[in-house]
Amino acid sequence: MTDPAVPPGGSGPRVVVAGDAEQAAVVVARTIRAAVEVDPSCRLGLATGATPSPAYRLLVHELATTDLFVDVTAFLLDEYVGLPTGDPASYRATIRRELTDAIGVPAERVHAPVTTGDLEASCADYESLLGSGVDLQLLGIGRNGHLGFNEPGTPFEWTTHVVELSATTRSDNARFFASPDLVPTHAVTQGLATIGRARHLLLAATGAAKAPAVAAALEGPLDTACPASSLRLHPRVTVVLDRDAAGDLS
Ligand code: PGA
Repeated sequence: MTDPAVPPGGSGPRVVVAGDAEQAAVVVARTIRAAVEVDPSCRLGLATGATPSPAYRLLVHELATTDLFVDVTAFLLDEYVGLPTGDPASYRATIRRELTDAIGVPAERVHAPVTTGDLEASCADYESLLGSGVDLQLLGIGRNGHLGFNEPGTPFEWTTHVVELSATTRSDNARFFASPDLVPTHAVTQGLATIGRARHLLLAATGAAKAPAVAAALEGPLDTACPASSLRLHPRVTVVLDRDAAGDLS
């Protein structure tokens, strides 16, 4: 299968506007699958959150009975600090439940930052593990323009680091917890420079709530006030939107 969403490189992000969130998911799933078909032992950067879930469901539906992903290594963008190991709300547990266990990526090759013990050492370890970067990095975007947990104001050159989550992010993520008080206050996230080491970045955004952040990322100032504007510094970026998320683009 060819990769329909591969931009030629060097010409700024390629923006694909799908009719709705399901169609956007088809493009995302196809792009991930194509990367693995080209290189079965590729290194995939995965995101958690509501946006990628429909694409993951498609991949599970298509691939649960194949061994296409058995040699893939997966890396998560971020992980909460303070959740017990294996907590269902942890991102490692989430990605295993939603995707990697079902499509046969061995659990020992599903990596997330370790968020117990010495966090500074854990950040350095995650940077080493990521090395020269993943082949394809899937990204969501926060309403405040964050990428991973790189909140507004984060310098573009930062690597994996500990972050205090913003009030917006904690309130947006409260839907994944039994009560808002249970949302962790801190996380470890790949930095924008870490994300930028990926060969190909694939940002997905759906729904009108994301439209202002998408417009700021693609058409606003290149500024830490919108961490996702850093995407424009990367030579190979694909942005997959539905019509609502594209609504504020000029
Ligand atoms: P969402 O999160 O997909 O749940 O909207 C995206 C993000 O915050 O990066």
